Amino acid sequence: MTPVQSPLIDKVLNTFQTLYKEEPIIVRSPGRVNIIGEHLDYNDGFVLPAAIDKAIYVGISKRNDEVIHLHSVDYNENFTVSLNEVRPTKTWTTYILGVVDQLIKKGYKIGGFNLVLDGDVPVGAGLSSSAAVECATAFALNELFSLGMEKIEMVKMAQKAEHAFAGVMVGIMDMFASMFGKKDHVIKLDCRSLEYEYKPLKLEGYKVVLFNTNVKHSLSSSEYNTRRKQCEQGVAWVKEHHPEVTALRDVNMDMLNKYVLTKDEIIYKRCKYVVEEIDRLLTGCNDLDRGDIKGLGQKMFRTHEGLSKEYEVSCVELDFLVESVKNNEFVLGARMMGGGFGGCTINIIKEEAIKDLQEKLSKDYTKATGLELTTYIAQIESGTERIR
Ligand code: GLA
Repeated sequence: MTPVQSPLIDKVLNTFQTLYKEEPIIVRSPGRVNIIGEHLDYNDGFVLPAAIDKAIYVGISKRNDEVIHLHSVDYNENFTVSLNEVRPTKTWTTYILGVVDQLIKKGYKIGGFNLVLDGDVPVGAGLSSSAAVECATAFALNELFSLGMEKIEMVKMAQKAEHAFAGVMVGIMDMFASMFGKKDHVIKLDCRSLEYEYKPLKLEGYKVVLFNTNVKHSLSSSEYNTRRKQCEQGVAWVKEHHPEVTALRDVNMDMLNKYVLTKDEIIYKRCKYVVEEIDRLLTGCNDLDRGDIKGLGQKMFRTHEGLSKEYEVSCVELDFLVESVKNNEFVLGARMMGGGFGGCTINIIKEEAIKDLQEKLSKDYTKATGLELTTYIAQIESGTERIR
């Protein structure tokens, strides 16, 4: 296997040597896409993510004191804090410090360290740059201090760091995908048992294309936590009649019609989307196994409709992008991806049609919204790894 090449590796190395006069360990941790199965991870459902070629790179070395020195190449910023004074911040440092905090709480012995961070995962694009930073940090500290953690422990730790330091009650998908990604494969992850299976992503002349709206609405974290609570409320109402039910994974439409619709229409809509999306993901996986990319693509359009009208986590910009490609013969599927309220749409597009479509869509998008459209063709890459 050829190791991942990126000019960012040299950039991190050079910055590290200049700043700290040391030779770092370097770790790469990628962003992710998710083919189908949105807002299912925290409902004990399934997801179908993959790690991509855009990644975070972290260089790290030990210090002889108990101080953490951080440097971001992108922001050209330094940050220094004592190990015993680690607190949440409102900047990029919070994702690194959140992981340190979890390690300390779990009783792992770490000392002071120098760290340089750089990456090309666009922030706020719904490609999980924060999970990539957390996974890179956990992996790098594990290597540096020989902590002996397994990947799955680091994934759970990264998720907790996000809960405690960023205040968003995210599911496990982003960290899992970043850590466990495999080149040219998607991961079918059961978010209840954490069992997973790699599936080859064979698109036969089609590509995974991301269109970035370049909007990030401030709503995203508060609404995310609200959706989670609404799902829990739905479960609680069903549970009154079916005590064995612990998550929307265990719920069917019949139960929702009987016990949730009668109580609250909005909560019903949220739960309905989730129950249907679990089914869509499972049949979508069968499509993928059979090589029926068209079938999978159709389901992606329906997922978008559910996210937009029932789960209500889309926005006009995302809706515009999906609507614009809906009747295009070269686009098999499209939908908003990730938490919502901005970020990217994920599209499956015929390779030779990408350039023309991108040009036309860029113009139309700017005309309609006044914003710029950014396009990425996602390559599916391996997960978190030490590269130096
Ligand atoms: C964000 C969260 C994930 C997941 C998605 C929606 O990316 O971090 O845990 O819930 O939204 O599928």
